[in-house]
Amino acid sequence: MPHTSIREPYVRLRIDKPGSAATVTRGDIIQAVMREYSSGQLPPGSRLPPVRVLHHQFGLSKNTAHAAYEELVARGVVKNHKRRGYFVQRQPARRQQTSIVQPAPLLVPDCPAVASRPRARRDLIELSSVFIARELLPLPRISECIRRVLKKPGLQYMYDAQGYEPLRRLIAQRLDRRGIPAQARDIVVTTGSQQALDIVGRALRARCIATEDPTYGIGKQLFELQHMQVIGLPLNPFTGADLDGWRHRIEASKPGAFYLTTNFQNPTGYSYSTAELMALLRLSREYRFGLIEDDWGSDMLSYSEFRPPLRAFGGEEVLYINSFTKKLLPSLRLGYLLCNSRILPSLLAVKRVCTLASSTLIEAALCEFLERGYFDAHLRAMQPQLDAWYQSCLARLQALMPEGVRWTTPGGGPNIWLEVPRRVDLQRLADRVALRGAAIQTLRDWFFGTPHLHGIRLGYAQHPPERFSVGLEILADEIRRALR
Ligand SMILES: Cc1ncc(COP(=O)(O)O)c(C=O)c1O
Repeated sequence: MPHTSIREPYVRLRIDKPGSAATVTRGDIIQAVMREYSSGQLPPGSRLPPVRVLHHQFGLSKNTAHAAYEELVARGVVKNHKRRGYFVQRQPARRQQTSIVQPAPLLVPDCPAVASRPRARRDLIELSSVFIARELLPLPRISECIRRVLKKPGLQYMYDAQGYEPLRRLIAQRLDRRGIPAQARDIVVTTGSQQALDIVGRALRARCIATEDPTYGIGKQLFELQHMQVIGLPLNPFTGADLDGWRHRIEASKPGAFYLTTNFQNPTGYSYSTAELMALLRLSREYRFGLIEDDWGSDMLSYSEFRPPLRAFGGEEVLYINSFTKKLLPSLRLGYLLCNSRILPSLLAVKRVCTLASSTLIEAALCEFLERGYFDAHLRAMQPQLDAWYQSCLARLQALMPEGVRWTTPGGGPNIWLEVPRRVDLQRLADRVALRGAAIQTLRDWFFGTPHLHGIRLGYAQHPPERFSVGLEILADEIRRALR
């Protein structure tokens, strides 16, 4: 037995002694062990509860407990291992031990949401990431705020299913300044916008939801996991939303809600025009479906500009979701949804039963961060860098890509859609690029049925331009080879 400070676990014993625990006797202990031993329920080698535990739990004197165990030693049922405790002996070979086959818990078969991507190698150049490079993120300032809130009295035992109230107030003020009327009481803080989608999906009475095709795939998987019928409305980032086509699909399938990403849609990078947003509001009224707006990209517009989201035009029935994760620190996992007083109770009830609440400490740290003005300062400092990286990416694409390849020019957000000729086998391309140290994602299952686009998501914000450019060279080279 190697020396270790970790004690072995001990078995649970059922000691039948109704009434006061103080009446447990030496005989009770012996009887309890014998009963379970003889029925084969104490696995050989398992440790009996330590003497001091019996003393603590039942008030049994240590001498009495020792005496009970020594009696069991004498009966050949347990063995005393010095300093480790009393252990159950193997049963004399009487009959074959039958192993009990437990029924497995029933899970959703082939659950799509648990099929995670293999972890990217650290040295790979990620060409399709949605993350922003760590050198652009305000780590030292976040650490300061976390350290500060750890010292704040009163936070340790406090949580609120709706989210830390001072944080909600600051979020509401921020939205207000951007032309989205908001009040703290209509905001629910979530563990990233992914949890906002989860809450909304669970709370929705309608079981048919529409979304763009392609759409944010993990959102699609989530709705499918929630047994919803998910309808895809084809979105071509080069030509926009085919609103007539959408109307036909909506008419045919009658979704109860439409989940859409209005700024820098993932994966296409598409942003809706104001005219399209207005048309969607009309469609929503005509066909009576709710709008769930995912505004993940609004803080990543070039020159730190801002465009009004659907919520600003459509009013408080538009459910608005946003997140700090990508722009601040992916591991902070903080997002929120803005609803209205009518539906808040349902959403809050769902969040409460699912998680009780998010981490108050993290919420308070973000609150501190916003309060000190760090978030806006960070965005102001980061956006020019992202703008420069975006420009560099476009210039490199122009210089490197062969004829027939085209790409979107979203002007912000972390993604560009790169469309390649159909005769390039995307999976083969991904494999070949990976062999040379770069990674691309083809995101086939972010589409509905056969993809109507043929390309990949590019994320220019993950690596500084020099490194990203090396990846683009590999990609362009492999596309050219595939076209030969
Ligand atoms: C469009 C969109 N919405 C929501 C999410 C979920 O993000 P998070 O939970 O990190 O806020 C993502 C993640 O990439 C996304 O791309």
